[in-house]
Amino acid sequence: MTEAILLVGGQGTRLRPVTVNTPKPMVPAAGVPFLAHQIARAAAAGVTHIVMATCYLAEVFEPYFGDGSDFGITLEYVVEDEPLGTGGAIRNAAQRLTGGPDSPVLVFNGDILTGLDIAGLVESHQAADADVSLHLVRVEDPRAFGLVPTDSEGRVLAFTEKPQTPEEIITDQINAGCYVFRRSVIDSIPAGRPVSVERETFPGLLDSGAKLHGVTEDTYWLDLGKPESFVQASADLVRGIVSSPAVPGPRGEALVLPGAVVADGAKLSGGTVVGAGARIESGAVVQGSIVLDGATLGPDTVVSASLIGAGASVGSRTVVNGAVVGDGAVVGADNELRAGVRVWCEAELPDAAVRFSSDR
Ligand code: GDD
Ligand code: MG
Repeated sequence: MTEAILLVGGQGTRLRPVTVNTPKPMVPAAGVPFLAHQIARAAAAGVTHIVMATCYLAEVFEPYFGDGSDFGITLEYVVEDEPLGTGGAIRNAAQRLTGGPDSPVLVFNGDILTGLDIAGLVESHQAADADVSLHLVRVEDPRAFGLVPTDSEGRVLAFTEKPQTPEEIITDQINAGCYVFRRSVIDSIPAGRPVSVERETFPGLLDSGAKLHGVTEDTYWLDLGKPESFVQASADLVRGIVSSPAVPGPRGEALVLPGAVVADGAKLSGGTVVGAGARIESGAVVQGSIVLDGATLGPDTVVSASLIGAGASVGSRTVVNGAVVGDGAVVGADNELRAGVRVWCEAELPDAAVRFSSDR
């Protein structure tokens, strides 16, 4: 039996995600709340018991995920009164774990999509007899992450969260947000106060001579902090570039959920998802986008790499590229929305109100 803690809290999650009214972990990616993919992937890797550590709105998660039986696991919720930070949340959630002091405990950041071999990470942790094992990936720009240099055997040499100076950037290897802890190490984290696992626990463990083992696996890995990454993650799930047992349909160019209406002359590609009750009119071209439930894309709209919120509508010939249209927003015909623009929920944009291209 393998147990896991799923971190779903912190200040970031409280913010409205991408002008869509749903809390971030519950925004659908490839047709289901994003967290469903993490839970399903963990279950497929042999995890049987997950404790979800949240610091707000457990009532959002519980009605959907219930006791975990739909995923073939036991799922429990632990709610912090005040955010306890990543380390404090792990310590707090561990009260619900049942394994002994030496048993491995998986910990997942809740805002990562990865193709990591989870069972392989646990095996490697046990083979290395490590106190903590960390999945590491290489990225082009490591500044927004935790830097984790290792020696030739994978032993972690330092942990620098969000480096502030160029001198601190000594590696492109970063913390990918998935760990295996020896249970007794979690019990050594102070209880009842905020603790950052990245800024306090890992550096402290290194100072005390604990064995932190880095596993650099070159696999699909995406941090969903930005809306454009979220849309990308959804498209990659639909196309099967990263696999999740929770995707409600076969892999392909588009996932059209039951109750959606797609006109004959519309073209869907690039891992587009069309939610229940959404309508895509004739001549629309939709690429690598998420169209949430009840949204409408008018005739000849061109939508790519974008998220169209629930019940929103986009008028004829409007171009939406790399943008987010909030729930219930009404975008008129002949607009051009590009480059990270976000239309707030329920906002109304008249016909021909915004464009990016030069005057013709
Ligand atoms: N329950 C709970 N309580 N969860 C929390 C809290 C808290 O107080 N604070 C953060 N979390 C959760 C977040 O919801 C997220 O799933 C995870 O812990 C990591 O927190 P983020 O706020 O997303 O951190 P980050 O993205 O800046 O950096 C982290 O992730 C990077 C990889 O994406 C760090 O772990 C970095 O070292 C890492 O490279
Ligand atoms: Mg994050």
